[in-house]
Amino acid sequence: MEGLKWRLLALLPLLASVILFYMKTPPQKPSHSECSLLDHNDFWISSKRIVTPKGVISGAVEVKGGNIVSVMEEDWQENVGTGQVIDYGEAVVMPGLIDVHAHLDDPGRTEWEGFPSGTRAAAAGGLTTLVDMPLNSFPSTVSEETFELKIKAAAKRIYVDVGFWGGLVPENAFNASALEGLLKAGVLGLKSFMCPSGINDFPMTNAGHIKEGLSILAKYRRPLLVHAEIQQELEDIADDPRSYSTYLKTRPASWEEAAIRELLTITNGTRAGGPAEGAHLHIVHLSDARSSLDLIKEAKSSGDSITVETCPHYLAFSAEEIQDGDTRFKCAPPIRDAANREKLWEAMMDGHIDMLSSDHSPTVPELKLFTDGNFLKAWGGISSLQFVLPVTWSYGRKYGMTLEQLASWWSEKPAKLAGLDLKGAIAIGNHADIVVWEPEVEFDLNDSHPTYVKHPSISAYMGSRLSGKVLATFVRGNLVYKEGKHALAACGVPILAR
Ligand SMILES: *[C@@H]1O[C@H](CO)[C@@H](O)[C@H](O)[C@H]1NC(C)=O
Ligand SMILES: *[C@@H]1O[C@H](CO)[C@@H](O)[C@H](O)[C@H]1NC(C)=O
Ligand SMILES: *[C@@H]1O[C@H](CO)[C@@H](O)[C@H](O)[C@H]1NC(C)=O
Ligand SMILES: [Zn+2]
Repeated sequence: MEGLKWRLLALLPLLASVILFYMKTPPQKPSHSECSLLDHNDFWISSKRIVTPKGVISGAVEVKGGNIVSVMEEDWQENVGTGQVIDYGEAVVMPGLIDVHAHLDDPGRTEWEGFPSGTRAAAAGGLTTLVDMPLNSFPSTVSEETFELKIKAAAKRIYVDVGFWGGLVPENAFNASALEGLLKAGVLGLKSFMCPSGINDFPMTNAGHIKEGLSILAKYRRPLLVHAEIQQELEDIADDPRSYSTYLKTRPASWEEAAIRELLTITNGTRAGGPAEGAHLHIVHLSDARSSLDLIKEAKSSGDSITVETCPHYLAFSAEEIQDGDTRFKCAPPIRDAANREKLWEAMMDGHIDMLSSDHSPTVPELKLFTDGNFLKAWGGISSLQFVLPVTWSYGRKYGMTLEQLASWWSEKPAKLAGLDLKGAIAIGNHADIVVWEPEVEFDLNDSHPTYVKHPSISAYMGSRLSGKVLATFVRGNLVYKEGKHALAACGVPILAR
């Protein structure tokens, strides 16, 4: 009897949710007040430090109907009339960050991240657009059908704008109608791996697949993003799996070099007059700043259509500093030695590395195997999304990085790669995608700091002291985040290529 009573009680929440479900009115488009923390659509943002393509100016940006309609210097006050002005004083007003490499794991692995938590973290970090990777969700996005599942999963669940890469895999590489179906459905480009991806339904491609993929992409003028590592013979590694140096030995820089060498035998086709003219190859998360980077520089100077990104974790950390068993730092390709990190910064400052991305690739804490600390078995992937702006700034200041460079690496170049013509700069006619932040304000990223990713504890940045506090984030003129508060509704837009 007692048992039955408890069982009935346990059913109550279910009953309540069924009743609520039937009482709910049909879903409606969120109202403006749900999409934005501001109650007006048309307003001005003023500041002494606005980062524009023409440099940092003191002035104001006029926002109307989600777009930037004017950008003015000194005399802006005369033009405001009765318009609403939000004055940010000395805070930096910059184009919102665009992350072309995020794994949001939705649908199918939402216990790892998911669209709602990932895009709320993005908004809090000043990122206004993410491009979601085709793997780590389930199923992988490798066909028109699986892409439809992505779009459905994103609907009304994203707080910033989200575009999508499709997967180039052996199954579709030689099937032009399959690839074209995926491209016509709206993926912004394709992504493939030259080594095992760690995800069973996302197998690796060889040079033949990549060449085919590029020839289709040339027609659509969209990029192919490649994870450039090729497995090479290794000597037996019998060292302690809790030591980071053991892991580092399992993925030497020669893997990156071998992959890039092979890619360059194909990318020569993208030169003017070549068979794949119009296609573009983008190397994701470069870690090796030595031979691999030299090869890329050479290809660029020969006229190949090729770009390269690296990630904040390769610029912030070095192999020497990673403690035994601290698998938060495991990623592929691996974080290399401190001298390599210096060379990566040099390449950033010289413009040889084109842009940055997060490669936010979280999982559940259990798969990081913190108790064993086994670097060879733990999930590889660094959780970083919300912190990439302060991290880039905190570590880059030492090298003399400017606000203009920051905006180029995180907004302008990523927008260009993903074909987002109306994003990536504070310029007339663009979407009003804007971050307002205070570079000089420091904070401790510890358990007291508000974090919005699903599993903050796995982030390699927890425990850091960082510089750069995000005050406000606007997406298409909606104030989606302001000092610890998010807009009520998820009004980000899924971006489909035309
Ligand atoms: C190519 O892909 C289409 C669907 O996109 C499929 O119907 C067809 O069977 C595939 N062809 C081959 C040879 O696998
Ligand atoms: C590209 O390089 C490959 C390998 O070196 C060569 O066989 C091919 O002819 C080159 N293609 C073009 C268009 O230069
Ligand atoms: C986090 O850091 C702040 C100082 O920035 C400190 O006041 C707070 O006690 C710290 N919280 C924890 C949980 O360590
Ligand atoms: Zn990735």
